[in-house]
Amino acid sequence: MGDVSSPVAAPLPAADRPDATRDLRAALLEAEFTADGLLDLLGAPAYAALARSETVPALRATRGERPLETLVRLFLLQQPVARDRLAAVLDVAACVESGWLRETGGDELAATVDVRPYGGPDGEDWFIVSDLGCAVGGAGGIGSRDEGVVLGVGGASTTLAAITVRTPVGSALDIGTGSGIQALHASRHATRVTATDLNSRALHITALTLALSGAPAADLREGSLYEPVGDADDARYDLVVSNPPFVISPGARLTYRDGGMSGDDLCRSIVQGAGEHLNEGGYAQFLANWQHVEGEEWTERLRSWVPRGCDAWIVQREVQDITQYAELWLRDAGDHRTDPAEYAARYDAWLDEFEARKVKAVGFGWISLRRTAHDEPSIVVEEWPHPVEQPLGEVVRSHFERVDWLRTHDDAALLQSSFVLAAEVVQEQVGLPGAEDPEHVVLRQGRGMRRATKVDTVAAGFAGVCDGSLSAGTILDAIAQLVGEEPVLLRDQVPAQIRTLVEQGFLDPAAPAAPAADTAG
Ligand SMILES: C[S@@+](CC[C@H](N)C(=O)[O-])C[C@H]1O[C@@H](n2cnc3c(N)ncnc32)[C@H](O)[C@@H]1O
Repeated sequence: MGDVSSPVAAPLPAADRPDATRDLRAALLEAEFTADGLLDLLGAPAYAALARSETVPALRATRGERPLETLVRLFLLQQPVARDRLAAVLDVAACVESGWLRETGGDELAATVDVRPYGGPDGEDWFIVSDLGCAVGGAGGIGSRDEGVVLGVGGASTTLAAITVRTPVGSALDIGTGSGIQALHASRHATRVTATDLNSRALHITALTLALSGAPAADLREGSLYEPVGDADDARYDLVVSNPPFVISPGARLTYRDGGMSGDDLCRSIVQGAGEHLNEGGYAQFLANWQHVEGEEWTERLRSWVPRGCDAWIVQREVQDITQYAELWLRDAGDHRTDPAEYAARYDAWLDEFEARKVKAVGFGWISLRRTAHDEPSIVVEEWPHPVEQPLGEVVRSHFERVDWLRTHDDAALLQSSFVLAAEVVQEQVGLPGAEDPEHVVLRQGRGMRRATKVDTVAAGFAGVCDGSLSAGTILDAIAQLVGEEPVLLRDQVPAQIRTLVEQGFLDPAAPAAPAADTAG
């Protein structure tokens, strides 16, 4: 096994050798070193084990001589490979000369970086480059103690990629680009991509990821947060994304996760800075951690972060108490494998830090902003820890469209509008077994956020007939007649429920009905 104890000490492949990178890409594709090829070769259990940083099953599955097995051992499992075996797959001399391979003594060679095949959303064969030992399952203690180590794809990376709004845009900014995965996704739908990082090694690796994936080069800039792009008028983007170093820790040790600012200040700064870096209608989407502080509502803390001129949708996906949180990140850095006294001292330091800041728990979630010209911003802060459908970018986009619609339609306009029930919404009746009437009715989405919401029988009946053909007012009048209610009463009371159903994506506004269709006015 090659020396992976200090991946950041190793020289990186040349980023200015497009010929060598192109040839390497061709060789990787020829050998079917792709996401699908990898899954076929390893089988689902060994593939899944890799994501847990367990390499033994994959090593067992790659004991043969096929080119794909050679490449998996070389680029994913950090195994030195015999020269003649490699020569059957790659131009060894060119790979050594351009820095992708290094001689390890004897007649073996090893990779200088990890290369992980990664399937793009439209079946693109992409490759994510990262430091050795970091392609799969995060660093997990393998060399992660090096301050500037550049990780590959983790769960957070794919979560952000999946929630990002993917409408075609002119410009995109990826802050803290790391391996370049977000920049790579953005290159599909943004004409111009700018990627920044505090760590120059990450920028070099991003250039490699883009080139090896056959994507256009990005504008790479070194520096902290928005500093490398400045605040001039041309430093505005249609899309800003960041999976920032959001970990709230007692001191910056690891650039990829500890932002070096105290508490959740880094996440707050990145959110607050987005307002002046977005074009009108542009989106900013971040993953973040936030403190739950004694005596403060966490929702209020987050509301205060939203910059002026932006709508916001903030979803808390998980909350951990401070002990779970400290243990998670101590393990992430491999601290649990150190001397027990050292581990205890580090653990203590995390708890000291939280105690000093009166932090009781830490929330994790998604922050999406949209720059708007409206005076009254829509700020939705909610907790939704349940499974959702991925990718979710289209759901995020339509959330902002719907809140825009609600803001511009008062109840009279709403009653004249028609709605369409979202796909795969079902109704559940909840009550005692055998009871004639349900205690309450729940509408449940099969798609998107997969929300469930309690409604009364009138709202459930209303949602059930929404196919875009009749106005809300007409439907409510018909329901009033059916249940023996005053139409005016339903017209007064039900719009509030309809608004909630629209905001939550159960109902979509259809084209406005012609005024004549709304017979009751
Ligand atoms: C969690 S990694 C995310 C990498 C990649 N974007 C992804 O989604 O997988 C955070 C990245 O932010 C960078 N970083 C740390 N502090 C930063 C700062 N103050 N400004 C910009 N980038 C920073 C780190 O070097 C690292 O590459």
